[in-house]
Amino acid sequence: MILTRLFPALIVFSGAYFLVAYQADDSVRKLVSTLTLDEKIGQMTQPDQMFLKSIDDIDKYHLGSLLSGGDSDPKSGNDLQSWTTLYDRYQTRALATKRRIPLLYGIDAVHGHNNVLGATIFPQNIGLGCTRNPELVEKIGRVTAEEVRATGINWAFAPCIAVPQDVRWGRTYEGFSESPDVVKILGEAAVRGLQWGGLSNPKAVLACAKHFAGDGGTALGTGQLKKDGTRFPFDQGDTQVDEPTFRKVHLAGYPPAIRAGVGSIMPSYSSWNGVKVSASKRLMTDILKQELGFQGFLISDYAALNQLPGTYKQQIETSINAGMDMVMVPEHYQEFFEKLKENVEEGKVAMSRIDDAVTRILRVKYAMGMLDPKRSQLADRSLQKSFGSTEHRAVARDAVRQSIVLLKNDNKTLPLAKTLPRIHVAGKSANDIGNQCGGWTITWQGKSGNTIEGTTILAGIKKATAASGGQVTYSLDGAGAAGASVGVVVVGETPYAEMLGDRTDLNLAPEDVAAISAVKAAKIPVVVILVSGRPMMIDNVLGNADAFVAAWLPGTEGDGVADVLFGDYKPTGKLSFTWPKRFAFGYGLTY
Ligand code: GLC
Repeated sequence: MILTRLFPALIVFSGAYFLVAYQADDSVRKLVSTLTLDEKIGQMTQPDQMFLKSIDDIDKYHLGSLLSGGDSDPKSGNDLQSWTTLYDRYQTRALATKRRIPLLYGIDAVHGHNNVLGATIFPQNIGLGCTRNPELVEKIGRVTAEEVRATGINWAFAPCIAVPQDVRWGRTYEGFSESPDVVKILGEAAVRGLQWGGLSNPKAVLACAKHFAGDGGTALGTGQLKKDGTRFPFDQGDTQVDEPTFRKVHLAGYPPAIRAGVGSIMPSYSSWNGVKVSASKRLMTDILKQELGFQGFLISDYAALNQLPGTYKQQIETSINAGMDMVMVPEHYQEFFEKLKENVEEGKVAMSRIDDAVTRILRVKYAMGMLDPKRSQLADRSLQKSFGSTEHRAVARDAVRQSIVLLKNDNKTLPLAKTLPRIHVAGKSANDIGNQCGGWTITWQGKSGNTIEGTTILAGIKKATAASGGQVTYSLDGAGAAGASVGVVVVGETPYAEMLGDRTDLNLAPEDVAAISAVKAAKIPVVVILVSGRPMMIDNVLGNADAFVAAWLPGTEGDGVADVLFGDYKPTGKLSFTWPKRFAFGYGLTY
């Protein structure tokens, strides 16, 4: 990257939004030179807000960032005002410190502002991958940014640009596709959407491409250790591939994301050929920062340093020297602060490394207008009028329509006529908004049931046929289907996130198989809709289905499913993952 040192203008015109001309960098470097070591370390320290011993620790430890990890919620609840009050309270405290450097507040807004009641919840990335539509993904990023900013929060830990290679991995649905070519295009679009108009736009948020790199390529049996000494099958495991494969598949999404100006990148818990990414100077510095020219900052994953070899002090030394810039501690931030300071004072971590990390962090804050004393850093509550709005939900409904993949349609069973005398709907996910949304929704793991405002698939079917005078009946197990014109059975997975989604058995649950059989026994056409975070083993039910639809995890706008069922939208979705033993990548029927 010697070129960009000699020709700073190259950086500015590399299309990376947040990179400012050197004179701005000069002001950042000047600011860094005035900071004490404590103030520098504070910028590199990110506690989870739920572990703050006192709000005054923001001052005492000169904190530059906080996060809300999964389930780290306002005590008063997950409503819009509680989140906004939480953010404003912490930011106000930060602005009352000597340096007045505002906090970057990070949250997993990975399919909308998914921690907040009333938010627009979009299809998870696996469904967006089936749209192959970067303009749509960019628009989703922009709407998500506006809803996140409505709470004041300024940093989304998204997009996930994993390239999942084995659908048994619990985070498959967070990936757009098994294809690096699809991930490149949609990952770049997601960054452009979240950081729309450039980082200086107060309605944009800082994006975070994750998890660098190879998170989706781990080998079976190498996952994170459990308390009993056994391992999860995949999550946080070891990606055992040669360098050409690692570069072609798992690094693919990063150059486009950097080109789009992504301001932060999150190194992965996982390893490459036995070396933890979060300890790898080759990966984080030589390849990502030097070869690929990433000028923003690296944020560790949640307590990822604790998984490295050695004592905590050695783990910190290793990871910071390898290129980690900010550490998502998240709990023992006082100890992190002290141990990093000791490492510097003992010469184990050079001050130049500290200065580089802090310069990267403050360069991003500068680009975001966070060092501009004239700019308010508190929530812009005027954005709240469009939070979860009809317009936002229309974008999500369109995404649902475009994400649906038609896998089977014998005898032109679909599209259904809205005038059918009776449609019988069955299955555990027909009337379950929690199942529709999946993990990372209100809670970390997500939950079945009525967890957030939205339209279930059943409600969407009822709305679509309301004017026709036809009847829509429902039973969980398929009973009562006899005599109906058609049966629609909605089955699949209940919510999960991360390692708790690792499965070696992808068969449908017995109650799903039974519900399909019960409707089939009624001797009427059967439409099966699969609501899942990945392809599942459907050999034992496909024969009972006249039509089969993959709806993935569509989010709150279940109307989009009805739009396809009734032909108001002809299915265009194409598989973003190979369907094991069944359908090839790219497969998808239409009417
Ligand atoms: C989690 C995930 C990461 C998330 C972070 C903060 O463990 O690995 O995707 O952004 O912690 O919640």
